Amino acid sequence: RTIYLSEYQVPAFLVDHVDLRFELFEDGARVHSTLTIRRNPEFPDQGEALVLDGDSLVLESVRMNGEAVPENGYQLKGEQLLVPEVPDHFELTVVTWIEPQNNTRLEGLYKSSGMFCTQCEAEGFRCITFFPDRPDVMARFRTRIEADRAAYPVLLSNGNDVDRGELVDGRHFVTWEDPFPKPCYLFALVAGDLVEKRDTFHTCSGRDIDLRIYVESRNAQKCDHAMDSLKRSMRWDEEVYGREYDLDIFMIVAVDDFNMGAMENKGLNIFNSSCVLASPDTATDAAFQRIEAIVAHEYFHNWSGNRVTCRDWFQLSLKEGFTVFRDAEFSADMGSPTVKRIEDATLMRTAQFAEDAGPMAHPVRPASYMEISNFYTLTIYEKGAEVVRMIHTLLGPELFRKGSDLYFERHDGQAVTTDDFVRAMEDASGRDLGQFRRWYEQAGTPVLDVSDEYDADQGVYRLKVQQRIPDTPGQTDKQPQHIPFALGLLGADGADLPLALADGDTDVPASRVLELTEAEHTFEFHGLAERPVPSLLRGFSAPVRVHYPWTRDQLMFLASHDSDGFNRWDAGQRLAVDVIQALEGQADDGEVDARLIDAYRRLLNDATLDQALVAKMLNLPSLAYLIELAKEADVQALHRAREKVLTTLAGTLREDLLACYHRNDDSDDYQLTPEAIARRSLRNTALAWLLRIDDAEACDLARVQFDRASNMTDQMGALRALVNSGFAAERGEVLDGFYQRWQDDPQVVEQWFSVQAASTEAGHLGKIRALLTHPAFEWTNPNKVRSVIGAFAGQNLSEFHQDDASGYRFLAEQVRRLDDLNPQIAARLVAPLTRWRKFAPVYREGMKTALEMIRDKDGLSRDVYEVVHKSLAGS
Ligand code: ARG
Ligand code: ZN
Repeated sequence: RTIYLSEYQVPAFLVDHVDLRFELFEDGARVHSTLTIRRNPEFPDQGEALVLDGDSLVLESVRMNGEAVPENGYQLKGEQLLVPEVPDHFELTVVTWIEPQNNTRLEGLYKSSGMFCTQCEAEGFRCITFFPDRPDVMARFRTRIEADRAAYPVLLSNGNDVDRGELVDGRHFVTWEDPFPKPCYLFALVAGDLVEKRDTFHTCSGRDIDLRIYVESRNAQKCDHAMDSLKRSMRWDEEVYGREYDLDIFMIVAVDDFNMGAMENKGLNIFNSSCVLASPDTATDAAFQRIEAIVAHEYFHNWSGNRVTCRDWFQLSLKEGFTVFRDAEFSADMGSPTVKRIEDATLMRTAQFAEDAGPMAHPVRPASYMEISNFYTLTIYEKGAEVVRMIHTLLGPELFRKGSDLYFERHDGQAVTTDDFVRAMEDASGRDLGQFRRWYEQAGTPVLDVSDEYDADQGVYRLKVQQRIPDTPGQTDKQPQHIPFALGLLGADGADLPLALADGDTDVPASRVLELTEAEHTFEFHGLAERPVPSLLRGFSAPVRVHYPWTRDQLMFLASHDSDGFNRWDAGQRLAVDVIQALEGQADDGEVDARLIDAYRRLLNDATLDQALVAKMLNLPSLAYLIELAKEADVQALHRAREKVLTTLAGTLREDLLACYHRNDDSDDYQLTPEAIARRSLRNTALAWLLRIDDAEACDLARVQFDRASNMTDQMGALRALVNSGFAAERGEVLDGFYQRWQDDPQVVEQWFSVQAASTEAGHLGKIRALLTHPAFEWTNPNKVRSVIGAFAGQNLSEFHQDDASGYRFLAEQVRRLDDLNPQIAARLVAPLTRWRKFAPVYREGMKTALEMIRDKDGLSRDVYEVVHKSLAGS
């Protein structure tokens, strides 16, 4: 069944108060729920029956205003409880029995390494008790948790703890009360044997907030970074958005089994262990940065998501797009803005553009869905954030802040739409964002075709920009979108030229944001004594593809002179893409353009450049990106061409790489500053390249680094480099040594799995199958599944895409198996198969057959059904 935005109706009933009592046992849990309900005066039919959602619940009793409702007084229909005759105001008490210990879907209440925890977004609360499970029903929650005191000393829920005490049989209880009305997807409960790390945050208005992180005792030493990140986030939200925290307690809990990264439950954020726990010896720099960003993301949701929430799930990007934008700006402020922008643009261009061009393409505000869990996508999150960023660019920081203040003030305590967000921005700024709204409605990545001419006599440079938006499933003939198009023009000396849009313009900027609103524009720049080199879409000012016929010399020029760091990086990427694509067609005899090698040599030796940017610029475009750019991807040919470039660069620049390696050795002095992170990144990149050409000296360096590393970044850097080398004996030795050392730490074991699964040398299909039977592998743990199956199919593309279709069949087999255990995870794993139409015929048929294998499984979940059927549609 498909749900449509156009069918939205206000809820027939409102819930003012929810009183919950959980009796937690080893063989199940009894949930007593008393709802204070009234008819919604805005609902058209005041005689409507009460309908509550419920999934996998055993109903024990129903009472209305304290009186038992006889069995003919209600109906259980599919996944709903229907009570036909109800008054305008009443209390409904429902008792249900659930089995958290058998819940492998990890939605609702479940157990993870002995503790009870919850995940209710989007529709997990209905797996706990009967409820109108939709975000526009907001209620005050009071929650009493009862459990065995010895096994579950810590009992947590949202808000403040208002009561606690002893019960018979060694049991105890704690009661929590959340003063803020909230949708049920923000409900949370945790019960376990956990240690508590405490700190305090002084807010801007002088209140003291009690901060607590709860983890299993073995993780007690891994909380500091998350706590510091939390305090930085709280300060940043006060300073940049004027948002102060509202409750007296803020809690974070780490759980090992979790479908996503983390969840912003009111006052009680629950995190996937891998997204919160870190210590220098067990977590890489990338993990430290990811944790800081996710802690911030979940914290920021307290305003953008919780205080102001979504009216319905079509509005998911209202909270996710805005919150990702907020966390990206936070990360930029904490580290290097250019590097952060490069990372985000890379994710957009590699993965979101692919999604936007595939069978699951959908607008930032979708018009329909079958299973909402499938819509926690790069489009909702990352493209949604880009859309908010464009508003920020169009309005400027001051008016944007005025808009966000108005949004929070106007809608505090409400469940609203993306349109309400845009309207607040319009009202505060006076700008008309009417056409801009198409970004929310139209799917697909706009393409900008840019051409130019230079009139030397007039000193005029003309830039023609045409935009088109490709068709996507169910959407054709799209209207032009409102695109902020930032650009600069470089003169022969590499400096920005003044951008005068008319003769005699004075005080002209060196960089401008042009606004595209039509299918075609021509811009004229005056007073130019020479033909400039255009630097287009500076800072990735819009999530679009830009086509312009830069020559390789021009790209070299931009890569070394552009004042916009992002476009410097981009020019280097475009040059590398061009070189790889040209080699792709040339079998084995093609030469790697010497200019690319020169560019890399300069990069490696230029100590004046921001080393964090250099570290990024050294990365060749990924195979995934090359596939995305191809019309019909021949994966093996692209892989060979890319490898040829990589090994040629490594071979030619061997001495430079070794020098770079030694120059950046500060392994005795571990710090987490951007500069130190950049040095580790450069050093490990140099090592990785040298091992791609099986350099014996580099192999020795890697062995020493592996043994002596003072931190996980360096140890993993050495391990990854060796695992991706041809030194088979060393590969085996370090993999075994690493496992021996870290086998008791699940987060590190996950990294050990994924470094193998993502490796072209160590990740052949036979080896992947062996990992699935490794004692540390668990089918019920999403991180393990992702680190083996996800890493293989999503990152080890040259092994996954075999012309005998073995990789595809393997994935189909695992998806079928996982579908019964955890449909959300199974549906996500299908993604690499969905874009089968984009691949060369040798791959395409095998991918399609694998999709059909999945489609034909008995009892396919709604999650996987939707992805597979949409992928196969029309074939
Ligand atoms: N709201 C969470 C976040 O972005 C994501 C939770 C989504 N969970 C899910 N099962 N779909 O921070
Ligand atoms: Zn979020």
